[in-house]
Amino acid sequence: MRMPSLPLYLLLLFFGLLPLRTDAMYTIGVNYGQLGDNLPTPQKAVELIKSMKIGKVKIYDANPAILKELANTDIKVCVMLPNEQIVAVANNMTLAEMFVRRNISVFYPSTKIRTLLVGNEILSASNQTWPYLVPAMINLHKALRKCRIRKIKVSTPLAMDMLQGPLFPPSNGSFRTDIGDSIMKPMLSFLHHTRAPLFVDVYPFFARENDATNISLEFALFAPDANVYKDSNGPEYGNLLDVQLDAVLAAMAKKGFPKVEITISETGWPTREDLDERGASVHNAALYNRRLVKRALAKLPLGTPRRPGRLIDTYIFALFNENLKGGPTTERNWGLLYPNGTRVYDIDLTGYLNETQYRLSPASPVEAPPGQLKIWCIANPHADATTLGRALSYACGQGSADCKAIQPGQRCFWPNSTVSHASYAFNNYYNQFHKTGATCIFGGVANLTTQDPSHGSCIFSPSYV
Ligand SMILES: *[C@@H]1O[C@H](CO)[C@@H](O)[C@H](O)[C@H]1NC(C)=O
Ligand SMILES: *[C@@H]1O[C@H](CO)[C@@H](O)[C@H](O)[C@H]1NC(C)=O
Ligand SMILES: *[C@@H]1O[C@H](CO)[C@@H](O)[C@H](O)[C@H]1NC(C)=O
Ligand SMILES: *[C@@H]1O[C@H](CO)[C@@H](O)[C@H](O)[C@H]1NC(C)=O
Ligand SMILES: *[C@@H]1O[C@H](CO)[C@@H](O)[C@H](O)[C@H]1NC(C)=O
Ligand SMILES: *[C@@H]1O[C@H](CO)[C@@H](O)[C@H](O)[C@H]1NC(C)=O
Ligand SMILES: *[C@@H]1O[C@H](CO)[C@@H](O)[C@H](O)[C@H]1NC(C)=O
Ligand SMILES: *[C@@H]1O[C@H](CO)[C@@H](O)[C@H](O)[C@H]1NC(C)=O
Ligand SMILES: *[C@@H]1O[C@H](CO)[C@@H](O)[C@H](O)[C@H]1NC(C)=O
Repeated sequence: MRMPSLPLYLLLLFFGLLPLRTDAMYTIGVNYGQLGDNLPTPQKAVELIKSMKIGKVKIYDANPAILKELANTDIKVCVMLPNEQIVAVANNMTLAEMFVRRNISVFYPSTKIRTLLVGNEILSASNQTWPYLVPAMINLHKALRKCRIRKIKVSTPLAMDMLQGPLFPPSNGSFRTDIGDSIMKPMLSFLHHTRAPLFVDVYPFFARENDATNISLEFALFAPDANVYKDSNGPEYGNLLDVQLDAVLAAMAKKGFPKVEITISETGWPTREDLDERGASVHNAALYNRRLVKRALAKLPLGTPRRPGRLIDTYIFALFNENLKGGPTTERNWGLLYPNGTRVYDIDLTGYLNETQYRLSPASPVEAPPGQLKIWCIANPHADATTLGRALSYACGQGSADCKAIQPGQRCFWPNSTVSHASYAFNNYYNQFHKTGATCIFGGVANLTTQDPSHGSCIFSPSYV
């Protein structure tokens, strides 16, 4: 709903007709995934979470070490019952109670657990567990009540493949027929009665993949100048995320549950890709997530065109790059942070900064021109130090590279090594002069790469060939 005038607001508040908005509602969440063999300890991770002013954390289990670290902080937590335990918990109330006692009661309330998610994207996997999903949710809800815990909601995160047919027009959104009546309907009924939101994993990045000719990168990245899409049976859309959310809302309304809230349990943008040019880059990830945070935390909530003015809880995927994930390069590069805790790009997760106020603009222009590749000229890490030092001096001197950024105190000084400084200088030189015939050789200690070497606040501009 839109914000009413102050006296009316107070009146509505008095009668309990408006939710009391607290600062906790205006914080962003992140997904703290742990599929990496080089990730920091839970203690260090929680320090990072606090330093980034992240207000909510979602984990993919109920890891006691993490829940312990989150105790006595203001951070709200979503825990998860793993997929493998759904059938058992649905069949056996004792096991539901054991999970609540062992994995929740022990930490609650000093750890502010607020949601128990049952499985992860269950309806995208083999149909064998599907019939157990809602019964498991019901059992866990009962088990929580039995332990006198009322503040923890039970839900489950679903992927966008819960819908069938094309995404456009969103007013036509409907659930797949194999889950619509058998699972979604009873689940929505449960969520409605327990006042819990449906958790949705929404990725404009992937939606575009299915229909890239038709959906512009600008529309996916919340660009203010993206072409607007007009739903013939509904409102206008300025971005792809809203289209996806409203398609889910339309599907819910068709099943008779137009009021169940939704939470964005995962969204984000990857920073690296193989040579597939799907738009994964530090630049695009920074744009997407900065704009996402700004929208999600707007003091006058934006909602979606179908539900304007509503706050939508949002969890960014992910806190860290996770090196043990399979699949293409993008999969391992969704993080806000490298495993060593350095930021992949600047982002203000409080939603305070405006786009133009970031100290640094994101790395590289949106996409390479059609038919061209993005490349960077960097130092060979195995080159002999003396030769490299000489090449560095040449690049910054006679070569006219702009080497301000690698001076002490500047954004590319760290790591303070010849290889790192030489990479910056060679790339800057190559940027300026490759069009007029300059090469990336530097006596054999330089090399071209298609992997963006930008790190933290140190941005390497690409060249195009
Ligand atoms: C639940 O708690 C037990 C005991 O602390 C732990 O071994 C187990 O991994 C936890 N379960 C999950 C899903 O995290
Ligand atoms: C439920 O689980 C408990 C604990 O593992 C077990 O003792 C009990 O026999 C189970 N009940 C049923 C009906 O399977
Ligand atoms: C699972 O899929 C198989 C094959 O499509 C089908 O025969 C079966 O009825 C499905 N089971 C459920 C619970 O949907
Ligand atoms: C709307 O959805 C139905 C069922 O999925 C489909 O048959 C129909 O073609 C869709 N209409 C449009 C305009 O896409
Ligand atoms: C995508 O293409 C279809 C068919 O050409 C068209 O009806 C639809 O409006 C397009 N969607 C967008 C967002 O342009
Ligand atoms: C961001 O921009 C808005 C609107 O232009 C302005 O009201 C607000 O003060 C700006 N925020 C900061 C932190 O300067
Ligand atoms: C940077 O590295 C150089 C060479 O190893 C060293 O002399 C210098 O003290 C370092 N500077 C800082 C601030 O660590
Ligand atoms: C330079 O790059 C080429 C092509 O990417 C690669 O085959 C070669 O091994 C690289 N050489 C060094 C010294 O890194
Ligand atoms: C952290 O890791 C990134 C990516 O591997 C690297 O570029 C950066 O230099 C590292 N930062 C520190 C402080 O070690």
